[in-house]
Amino acid sequence: MQYLLGIDIGTSGTKTVLFDTEGRTITSALSEYPLYQPRIGWAEQDPADWWNAVVETISKVVQSSGVQPSDIKGVGLSGQMHGMVLLDKNGRVLRPSIIWCDQRTQAECDQITEAIGRERLVEITANPALTGFTASKVMWVKNHQPDIFRQIDKVLLPKDYIRYKLTGVYATEVSDASGTQFLDVPERTWSEEVLNKLGFSPDWMPEVYESHEISGNISAEAAGLTGLNQGTPVAGGGGDQAAGAVGNGIIQPGVISSTIGTSGVVFASIDQVKMDPAGRTQTFCHALPNTWHVMGVTQAAGLSLQWMRTHFGGMERELAGFLDIDPYVLMDQEAEKANPGCDGLLYLPYLMGERAPHLDPYARGVFFGLTARHGRCEMIRSVMEGVAYSLRDCLEIIRAMQVPIREVRASGGGGRSPLWRQMQADVFQTPIEVTNSKEGPALGAALLAGVGAGVYKDVKEACARAIQVTKIQNPIEENIPVYERYYEVYTSLYPALKDSYRKLADISGQA
Ligand code: XUL
Repeated sequence: MQYLLGIDIGTSGTKTVLFDTEGRTITSALSEYPLYQPRIGWAEQDPADWWNAVVETISKVVQSSGVQPSDIKGVGLSGQMHGMVLLDKNGRVLRPSIIWCDQRTQAECDQITEAIGRERLVEITANPALTGFTASKVMWVKNHQPDIFRQIDKVLLPKDYIRYKLTGVYATEVSDASGTQFLDVPERTWSEEVLNKLGFSPDWMPEVYESHEISGNISAEAAGLTGLNQGTPVAGGGGDQAAGAVGNGIIQPGVISSTIGTSGVVFASIDQVKMDPAGRTQTFCHALPNTWHVMGVTQAAGLSLQWMRTHFGGMERELAGFLDIDPYVLMDQEAEKANPGCDGLLYLPYLMGERAPHLDPYARGVFFGLTARHGRCEMIRSVMEGVAYSLRDCLEIIRAMQVPIREVRASGGGGRSPLWRQMQADVFQTPIEVTNSKEGPALGAALLAGVGAGVYKDVKEACARAIQVTKIQNPIEENIPVYERYYEVYTSLYPALKDSYRKLADISGQA
């Protein structure tokens, strides 16, 4: 038998999954770690936490599976995108990683736009300067921590730091590299022009591969720590969005995914570079050669419900512990008691600023329309509906770019909730499909490793073997006009609040 290992270094934890070549899960392990928010709008993680979680989960999976390590034909890496890991010349981490949802770098984005010119920047990197991207984070270190900046020898993404720890090799691949804003996205190589104009050394950048290509092999040291065989090939893999798309079979135009993880993402595969002229969606290289993707990201999707669970879900957490079930199942049951549209209670999910459709680090969450009749069930449901509206916003931009939308597949933790899927079907007014794949990014990474290791001919063959649509949820006709009317109000709220958000940020010292 042959097996493939997929590792997804996420924001809340790392998940490692061993698959057979038909994409079936053999065993998996999860290890969580903290997100540090030293100030409002800041988000950092410790790369050592990721590494410890990777070692722990691989060891668990290898041991508990009973599979011979020599039968593991390849390892694929996936992970949260955009995070900045700075290493000195001895390969030591220089400071905590500033991660994708950190919003401190608006001034640096302006500086980058000024240095390169907006049009040229979009021409090369396919995107405007965004607070989430790596480039502005490195610029922030240049501006605020010059002592650290002087010691930089390598700039890596989260999963590529793990690759370095596993293989000793500095490498990345095109899909994740696209999110640094240092990549020439149409050409799929580092842009010396961008790096030079920003005063960053091209030597800091790791080797960039196509996502299925083998970038290195498990080192003796990593083999000793994890139980993997020394020499096991490690493929490029993909940023969590591209890898998750592969793991859901989103590899051809027309099939779109809607993913509710920490962030929420609407993702479409395209066969030529296309951009939203206003820069509200991101265009990146996809994990298949000569293919790109466009995606709209709402920053706090699952994070919104997680926030609700953490701060107001004590009752659900306690009961869930007692019943040994997931607290989200109980929250779903409560949300189901409220009416679609929550009798006029709307939620804007801007807990971490926003990316699509409003590029605004100062946007903040809102409950709008709250009355004395609303209770806990409406609050929970409105959070879920607000996320669905925000995903609809992303879908509308992609539709306006003339990207075909034939099928929408739900995935991510939120995609597991039948209620949240139904809301998406009703709000998007399209059927929502579910696939057999529960492990999006980890499966995608493993399939890419399978291609690199020669188990599959190409990504198409890998997806055809591993992924099937198992369920389709159609919109409920009577919900469509209800949501449509509330969606109209929802879209009118941000423009009305924009100036107030900025004032709030000034007053509270968050600007
Ligand atoms: C994608 C993005 C998020 C992170 C974290 O652009 O910012 O999906 O990768 O999941």
